[in-house]
Amino acid sequence: MIECAVWWATPLPADPEFLALLTSVEHGRFDAYRQEIDRRRFLTGRVLAKTIAGQRLGLEAGAVEFDATCDGCGKPHGAPRVPGAALALSISHSGDRIGVAFTEGAPVGLDVETANRTVEDSLIEYALNDTERESLAALSAEARSAAFFTFWTRKEALLKATGRGLRLPLQSITLSPAGEPARLLGSGEAALSPERTRMADLDPGEGYRAAVAVLTPDDIKVTEHTWQLP
Ligand SMILES: CC(C)(COP(=O)(O)OP(=O)(O)OC[C@H]1O[C@@H](n2cnc3c(N)ncnc32)[C@H](O)[C@@H]1OP(=O)(O)O)[C@@H](O)C(=O)NCCC(=O)NCCS
Repeated sequence: MIECAVWWATPLPADPEFLALLTSVEHGRFDAYRQEIDRRRFLTGRVLAKTIAGQRLGLEAGAVEFDATCDGCGKPHGAPRVPGAALALSISHSGDRIGVAFTEGAPVGLDVETANRTVEDSLIEYALNDTERESLAALSAEARSAAFFTFWTRKEALLKATGRGLRLPLQSITLSPAGEPARLLGSGEAALSPERTRMADLDPGEGYRAAVAVLTPDDIKVTEHTWQLP
């Protein structure tokens, strides 16, 4: 059984005690965001991830350093890793939700999205393949949007678990219908097989959808926690 712990937070203020946990590279990323809320979401993801990673590794939060080198372009905006530690993590933020998922090393991907709007058909056509779209055909517009966000967060979580994100074609993977438990049915990607993929829907609260994916042949046990400031 692989354990996966998901921690949820809301945006922190950009206070000195939190900013002090960022490295100079992370300060550069923080400063590059134009919108204050984007800066706060980034800061919160890092503070939450460092705090929980520190607890798990027996380190102060400030002593936890991530390598977030993008394997596509080399910039420090990729999936964060803790060099040398048996700990894998994935960060996601949307609206007022910031989440971090952890495993003891199995590749993990987390996605949370605000899900309180009607989705354009063009987005459904972009993200879902024919098989997946068929499962939406009989639904009302409202139910179709809700189902789409379930598909979308499951897919993004899976793409993030691979570390490649949207560089993998969204339509190359086929997921179970939104009304059924999250499952990979098939994939055009050699790196992704149903036998080695486990997924779960999460409960990020009203107006949000979220999912987690773990690349493992074992069953997963997912726990969700709300992070409160000490
Ligand atoms: C990762 C990605 C799916 C973002 O999804 P999103 O719904 O917009 O945003 P989320 O909040 O869920 O995820 C963002 C987080 O994913 C993580 N991340 C970034 N790249 C990632 C990747 N390739 N795989 C897994 N996780 C990644 C980061 O932790 C990032 O948050 P942070 O920068 O604050 O630490 C998307 O940006 C992507 O596919 N990026 C990689 C490919 C790409 O387009 N690169 C372009 C520049 S080379």
